[in-house]
Amino acid sequence: MKIHLVTHNKHKFEEYRLLFRNENMEVEWVNTEYVEIQDDDVENVALFSLNALTGKIHEPFMLEDSGLYIKSLKGFPGPYSSYVNRTIGNEGIMDLMKNIRERQAVFVAVIGLRMDGQNYLFRGVTEGKISHEIKGKKGFGFDPIFIPEGSERTFSEMDIEEKNRYSHRMMAFKKLIEFIKI
Ligand code: IMP
Repeated sequence: MKIHLVTHNKHKFEEYRLLFRNENMEVEWVNTEYVEIQDDDVENVALFSLNALTGKIHEPFMLEDSGLYIKSLKGFPGPYSSYVNRTIGNEGIMDLMKNIRERQAVFVAVIGLRMDGQNYLFRGVTEGKISHEIKGKKGFGFDPIFIPEGSERTFSEMDIEEKNRYSHRMMAFKKLIEFIKI
């Protein structure tokens, strides 16, 4: 089975490409932008996008909505991660976190799958912390400021294979694969 992955983000695609390859499965990149609603719940965002793309993209297809939730900021930026990343960016987050010792954060990814005329959602979560400085050159988005539990390095200091061992994306992907392989 070949799954179509709808994303405008090349980094996301590269991470998924490796994950699928390790399962001996094919994934085809559909490089297109689509409307994302703003909602407090990433599941709702993914579901809306699935419905909006239904009939336009070859099934089975998948997309992913993700967000970073910082505990001391009451879960900010959460479902607004994309906007915050584009506006204040990692420097802005560093400023907000100045003098805050509680650095706990979680990355959440929700995969939306459209298959056989039905919608399915798979949630992956990675616990970690916000670094005290922006570190690393690889990856994208909040990678330079997020240190997953079990490591002392940011996602940006890891190559894709290493990031995939910890990431929220991999956690959601594992559930997707379990479901597909039934
Ligand atoms: P979206 O799901 O593509 O809308 O992503 C939401 C925001 O979270 C974007 O600004 C991404 O840059 C960021 N983001 C999502 N996944 C990751 C990741 O694995 N590393 C770093 N930033 C991420």
